[in-house]
Amino acid sequence: MIMLRLGVNIDHVATVRNARGSSYPDPVRAAKMAEEAGADGITAHLREDRRHILDADIDALMDHLSVPLNFEMAATDEMMAIALRHKPHAVCLVPEKREEKTTEGGLDVAREENKLAHFIAPLRDAGCRVSIFIAADRSQIEAANRIGAQVIELHTGAYCDFHAEGRFEERDAELARLTRMAGFAHSLGLEVHAGHGLTFDTVQPIAALPEVVELNIGHFLIAEAIFTGLTPAIREMRRLMDEARA
Ligand code: PXP
Repeated sequence: MIMLRLGVNIDHVATVRNARGSSYPDPVRAAKMAEEAGADGITAHLREDRRHILDADIDALMDHLSVPLNFEMAATDEMMAIALRHKPHAVCLVPEKREEKTTEGGLDVAREENKLAHFIAPLRDAGCRVSIFIAADRSQIEAANRIGAQVIELHTGAYCDFHAEGRFEERDAELARLTRMAGFAHSLGLEVHAGHGLTFDTVQPIAALPEVVELNIGHFLIAEAIFTGLTPAIREMRRLMDEARA
């Protein structure tokens, strides 16, 4: 079984900071703590509206992290310039809408194939591993492969929402789809990641998928940190992932 990495998303540390316009809590401090607790990478999403992570946070993360940064961004010229300036280890392209609370769906790669193919080429040339955040859908995976993405990240939000709402048949159907599509993407040679909405209750079936090599988890960990602290929250997530993997 391939090792499963945990990427900790620290966006919502910045959400709390920005709620008061203070200098704390510092997302970089959270990222360093996450590293010590066993995170294999740090994920941060610089949104167009800068609602959580700010440009200065990306500068500081690039300066201080010892583990790779997974830089989430929309496919815009502004973000491209920032990514090329920093050349993070990984760039994950996500859809973005101003009015949404969080990234609601995957990118429609199939519809924007030409545009995205041109977009990811300079990122790859700069040495970034390019990942595309998509729904577990065959045509999206095929399109991601055609445009030269090295990685896909499967959106687990629907699976987690069905679980939270007690809609277990739909949850299981979504899990079956994620399972099939992780296998399909892997068979094309794509590296498979997954994330969005994962909690202690929902992580294990996803962590058990043998083709998935990285999970990116944020909101739940930061929420849980209020009660237990960040280190125990991350350690428990890591333990559940390892247990599922074994
Ligand atoms: N992966 C991607 C591509 C995301 O956009 C997000 C949310 O920023 C996550 C993972 C983490 O989701 P959550 O914060 O719900 O754990």
